[in-house]
Amino acid sequence: MQTAPIKFEKFQAVQEDDLQQRIIAARQKLGDRLVILGHHYQQEGVYKHADFTGDSLKLSRYAAESNAEFIVFLGVHFMAEVADILSRPDQIAILPDMAAGCSMADMANLSKVERCRRELSEHYDFDTTFTPVTYINSAADLKAFCGEHGGIVCTSSNAGKIAEWAFARREKVLFFPDQHLGRWTGYKMGIPLEKMIVWDPDLPLGGLTKEQIDDAKILLWKGHCSVHQMFRPQDILRFRNEHPEGKVIAHPECSFEVCNLSDYVGSTEYILRTVAESAPGTRWLVGTELNLVNRLAERMKPEGKIVRFMSSIVCECSTMARIDPQHLAWTLENLAEGNVVNRIHVSPQETALAKLALDRMLEAS
Ligand code: 13P
Ligand code: SF4
Repeated sequence: MQTAPIKFEKFQAVQEDDLQQRIIAARQKLGDRLVILGHHYQQEGVYKHADFTGDSLKLSRYAAESNAEFIVFLGVHFMAEVADILSRPDQIAILPDMAAGCSMADMANLSKVERCRRELSEHYDFDTTFTPVTYINSAADLKAFCGEHGGIVCTSSNAGKIAEWAFARREKVLFFPDQHLGRWTGYKMGIPLEKMIVWDPDLPLGGLTKEQIDDAKILLWKGHCSVHQMFRPQDILRFRNEHPEGKVIAHPECSFEVCNLSDYVGSTEYILRTVAESAPGTRWLVGTELNLVNRLAERMKPEGKIVRFMSSIVCECSTMARIDPQHLAWTLENLAEGNVVNRIHVSPQETALAKLALDRMLEAS
């Protein structure tokens, strides 16, 4: 039975213990009508309620396979959009706080990418020269753009395979919005750094000459993650100096210099798995978001593994952190009362094209 939605303000002053109890009670009421998917950067107070946790690729597979009526996403906006796109039309994707965006995803938008395509089309047949590849950290309309133009989506865990897919079809790749993931991926494929050039969307022809583009293999959109750009080569050099036997692992959203100095580079799931599988007593320096590193450090303590955060500055993803126990309790109690709040809904037209690009990714990875 539907009632008036419960207002969020009612949850703001509720104590943490009460919130936790109320989340558990609302989940029990909803039973298997509900699935909660949680990204590894989520704070512990909500992460512990996730039915499934993972990196972007793993969570998108869970969303595609889930039968639940409600998919509550503990993550950021583009992740909930992917859940909506990959689930059936009768399933409902929900983001507990609509302000949980991704600043990197916002660095590319459809009008700028369309302008890029128009400018490139003055010199090339875009659809036979460039495969557009969007990092999953992007809005649904950019995934739809890739679907429409023979392109594909990638995540941090399958970017290598996806780049191979892209180059098997066209001679060049337009990669957005994260220049660092694009550069690291190309480098690992053996593409020389000078063949990967940055497209500045605020300059005519990306600030490039036709000759530079002729010579390039990948055009890297000028975008980055504000969290991962905080890690510095000197953080790694200091650690290596103090602990020559230590191991360094970083997310590919870090700068090229940081990735190049690291022993291992990979997605959040890869980071967790690699550290978990290492020998007892291993000392680690980890370059990714703080919530993940703190949780990992706690979990590894019993095995005598020492996990240290790569930066001396707090590098927390402030938008991921918006999903807190207050918002989760508010969302679930409303659902249990029959009120859907914060639904993420991608239009059917956009869904069809974005799904094309996502399905290509799931098949190729
Ligand atoms: P993963 O896919 O590796 O979890 O990365 C998502 C993300 O946003 C990293 O900043
Ligand atoms: Fe976006 Fe960076 Fe936050 Fe990941 S860590 S969600 S890329 S802002």
